Amino acid sequence: MNKKYIGVFDSGIGGLTVVRNLIAQLPNENIVFLADTKNMPYGSRRRKQIVEFALNDVAILNRYDLKAILIACNTADSAARKILQKQSDIPVLGVIEAAARKACTVSRNKKIGVMATAATTRSKEYEIVIHSFDESVEVYSLACPELAVMIEKGKDGNDPEMNAILTEYTDILKLKGVDTIILGCTHYDVLKEKVEELLPETAVISSSACAIEDLNELLQKQDLLSDDPDPEKIYLVTADPQGFKKTASAILNNINIGMV
Ligand code: DGL
Repeated sequence: MNKKYIGVFDSGIGGLTVVRNLIAQLPNENIVFLADTKNMPYGSRRRKQIVEFALNDVAILNRYDLKAILIACNTADSAARKILQKQSDIPVLGVIEAAARKACTVSRNKKIGVMATAATTRSKEYEIVIHSFDESVEVYSLACPELAVMIEKGKDGNDPEMNAILTEYTDILKLKGVDTIILGCTHYDVLKEKVEELLPETAVISSSACAIEDLNELLQKQDLLSDDPDPEKIYLVTADPQGFKKTASAILNNINIGMV
């Protein structure tokens, strides 16, 4: 069978939380995943550099026979989605639109908080996309610059330092009266339970989960869904395969990791 892959990329293990959802919902798909660990974190970079990284990530993924690209990184989505869509002849999907749409349907008081990297927050992409769905929504964006790096080092919601930082962030959003929070960085998926515990009255939406529904719909529409009984999963990193494997094991077990 001629395998066609879904290409997925992120700066690091955040993208694996997207792959985990992808495998759960579309188990027959062939996937090639790239974590640009050499250049992680994207969130503290300038836009121009994030665009360069994203273009390079897609060039690496394009060594495989792809049928769609999923930008499993809010930061790269906010900086480079339009450019990638323009230069690609296959569908390119991000995570922001799906998370924003979900938040708009879930929020009752139309006050939505967004926790994201500094670059995503600066881009105002969540505000723009949320307002394209509903202009009356108040959006409170909060840059959480240290979280992705801590998560990449293997820390989760049980870590005391993480707990203290998250408590500060969630207190700020609580004061704003938001009833819905978007975890607008795919790394933060590992913090979902902790944020829900800290804000029991608030709906917590992970950007890692939302995009798969859109991808499914797109593949169905274009008749691209795979029924491969033995789909292939390829995991690539640009640096530190051992370290990545260790942290990744909290998200996906027994994966082989290659270097590019
Ligand atoms: N996981 C990425 C995101 O969704 C970015 C983490 C980083 O490299 O700063 O924004």
